[in-house]
Amino acid sequence: MAAKRKAKATKTKAAKAAKVKKAAKARKPVRAAKAKKVVKTKKAVKAETGKTGPRNYGYFDDASKEYVLLNPATPIKWCNYVGTLDFGGVIDTTGGTVLCKGDPALNRITKYISQMPASDFKGSTIYLRIKEKDSYRLVSPFVAPTCTLWDKWECRIGLSYTRWIAQGFGVKVVITVFVPAKSSTLIQDISIQNISGRNIEVDVVPVYEFSHFDALKQLTNADWVPQTMTVDAHKEKSGHVILEQYAFMKKKYAVNYFTASTPADSFDGDRRAFLGLNEITGWACPYAVHKGKLTNSTALRGDNIAAQLFKFKLANRRTGRVATQLGQQKSIDAAMPEIKKYRNLRNVDKAFAELADFWNNYLTALQVKTPDASFNSMVNIHNPRQCHTTKNWSRYLSLYQLGFGSDRGIGYRDSSQDLLGVMSHMPEEARVLAENLLSVQKEEGNAMHQYFPSTMEANEGDSREKEDRPKYYGDDHLWIVLTVASYLKETGNLKFLKKQIPFYNKKKELKKRELGTVLEHLKRSLAFSWRDRGRHGIPRLGFADWNDTVNLPTGAESLFNANLFAKALLEMIDICEAIDDKKLATQYKGWYETIKERVNKTAWDGKWYVRWFDEKGRALGSNRSSVNKIDSLGQSWPIISGVASNERAKVALDSVHKLLNTKNGIKLSWPGYKGFDPHVGGVSTYPPGAKENGGIFLHANPWIMIAETIVGNGNRAFQYYNQINPAAKNNGLIDEYESEPYCYPQNILGDEHKLFGLARNAWLSGTSSWTYQAATQYILGIKATFKGLSINPCIPKAWKEFSVIRKFRDVVYEIHVKNPKGVSKGVKTITVDGREIVGCIVPFLVGKKHVVEVLMG
Ligand code: GLC
Repeated sequence: MAAKRKAKATKTKAAKAAKVKKAAKARKPVRAAKAKKVVKTKKAVKAETGKTGPRNYGYFDDASKEYVLLNPATPIKWCNYVGTLDFGGVIDTTGGTVLCKGDPALNRITKYISQMPASDFKGSTIYLRIKEKDSYRLVSPFVAPTCTLWDKWECRIGLSYTRWIAQGFGVKVVITVFVPAKSSTLIQDISIQNISGRNIEVDVVPVYEFSHFDALKQLTNADWVPQTMTVDAHKEKSGHVILEQYAFMKKKYAVNYFTASTPADSFDGDRRAFLGLNEITGWACPYAVHKGKLTNSTALRGDNIAAQLFKFKLANRRTGRVATQLGQQKSIDAAMPEIKKYRNLRNVDKAFAELADFWNNYLTALQVKTPDASFNSMVNIHNPRQCHTTKNWSRYLSLYQLGFGSDRGIGYRDSSQDLLGVMSHMPEEARVLAENLLSVQKEEGNAMHQYFPSTMEANEGDSREKEDRPKYYGDDHLWIVLTVASYLKETGNLKFLKKQIPFYNKKKELKKRELGTVLEHLKRSLAFSWRDRGRHGIPRLGFADWNDTVNLPTGAESLFNANLFAKALLEMIDICEAIDDKKLATQYKGWYETIKERVNKTAWDGKWYVRWFDEKGRALGSNRSSVNKIDSLGQSWPIISGVASNERAKVALDSVHKLLNTKNGIKLSWPGYKGFDPHVGGVSTYPPGAKENGGIFLHANPWIMIAETIVGNGNRAFQYYNQINPAAKNNGLIDEYESEPYCYPQNILGDEHKLFGLARNAWLSGTSSWTYQAATQYILGIKATFKGLSINPCIPKAWKEFSVIRKFRDVVYEIHVKNPKGVSKGVKTITVDGREIVGCIVPFLVGKKHVVEVLMG
């Protein structure tokens, strides 16, 4: 009996081994018939594209507003965003998908582990099983996870969509992934054209892997999570299949579904059934796909997936098309209208066209034409697009900021600043987010550091973990003053100041919280910083100011907070004048003068301003220190706030130029800490040259650009602009830079680091908003004010002219600036529709369009 069992076991083992071998064979890298290697040399890429403009891994196609990637082997993962925080996520260039609805931490849909190699399966992929004489070819248009080398491959990173075009093995595949406006469905529009010259049969197998909705739990608990996960299958008479996935506790109110426009041949909901062979051959060759028939598994537990197999028989030149939908709704019944809508491919086309319309309309808020092509491309397309992305996602979800647990949420200071970058494009959407931020401001006037959008629960960021440090941030509440002022100037909607918004109080339920008008909120912001001043009369640091990583013991003061406070006071004085509150304006003018005096009296260090006073009153960011002698914010902000005299401003900016500037951008500080110093905290956990420890923290660069325009140095402002333009890296520098060339990263390693020039943390950075503001409001000098549109450029002397089309309060201004004498700053005359005006502010006008001629000199 035992011998028999043993023989049977050996036999089964042998059979399994043979299966594994067969499957592994199919997993070998597959290469298209006359394929060139897909990892191309720069020269090959250049020769092949035949397009003009700089390129390395790909090129910018401004006509289609896309970056076209030709080489899938990017140095690190590059990605794009689809949808919004309401429903959407990150799509990487090899098909990986991070999808969530409303909150990446609390309502995650797909599983993606960003630290895994690019070759690994990450939330989604598509397989093509192309039938050949006695066998088949298994390939993926995303290259990974089948390791497919195509004859031709490109990935077009577009405005809220990504499109892959892969050609080889007798087919041309086009896949477009996007979320229709206001929808909770991710669409994959897949078309396969037979270009083989014969009849072919192709199986198309898209697959997603689900995450538990609590994204962190998915990673920390491998018993509870799989016990709760379920996939049901609904087979309709028409042959269409809807796979329904949910965690048990959400069964009645939030289910994920996956379906398509085409009836499915077969499907799988259970990962083990789909991959087969107890998953030993993995994603490179799922056993069910290898067999050409999925197992029709559902799942009562375990690792949940949604895979469907669609069969196409294509005569030569014919195209087959299927659109899949991955969505989340209350129930399948509730999802049916949307499911039916997007099963009709005409509606898919329509939704895609509507997305393009949205972007065209969005971008018309401000379009420029200057002598510099990469400036134009950044300002017209990629920078406003990134601002839209940061507005949506704050610092919550990227391939770096992973949106797990209570690590992040919507950042108070981050989003307040992000809103400044979208104010001319979507002021009303910005207002809605500003209201949320105001609702997590505390009664005392300071604000909670972060909140979670689906619950509106707030937390205090890192400060909650440090026993011996203050439990509030010294700057959060001040940023919102700038944001509200910017909204009011853009729209003129002064009524907003009267809107009642609750103050945050954890101990009280929402209905019982104190209400205050928006104006009252702003007043409490300012009053908090006025009260919370230290021994030099400078606002205290709190747990941190903008620089999250300098966490000095209680009692420290921050010169940055002082200058941000001063800038917020200036904005508030403008608001007071707009609502004609002279008394309040006078009070704030008094506070402003006091702060100005205190900063100049206590913080001037000879050639620059110091940055902090610690709890004992010792200066940091001072020439007297041995490390961290000079800090960039210490110089930019006294100039932005008008606190520095012109003379000091110029000296401080020359110090920045001499001590902080590099060819890859301006370092945040110098020199870096050489080892961990518990007194300052986080900043000294990085090696010198990295992040806040003397790295090129990009967010701080546009502030220096702005400061340079304030002192009239247009050449330097533009030099600083160009230094960090990611598009310029596309010209042969990507292997050093590594990050995406179509969006700003958060940080670049500085010259104290051996890997000087290496960028990380793409997409979600305040760099986007501030560089956009620096370019449009300070270099081009076009700014909304309570009195009209102010035009006061500060440009490189070599620019002889430029033009801008700016929509402002529903009126289009066509602005042409001429600079015949080659100056950087100084407006001689402005005419509006042929009539000269006094000063630099074009007053509010009625009518659709006005022509503004500006003469500099
Ligand atoms: C990160 C944080 C931001 C902070 C900056 C500097 O970008 O999101 O809030 O100001 O680091 O520390």
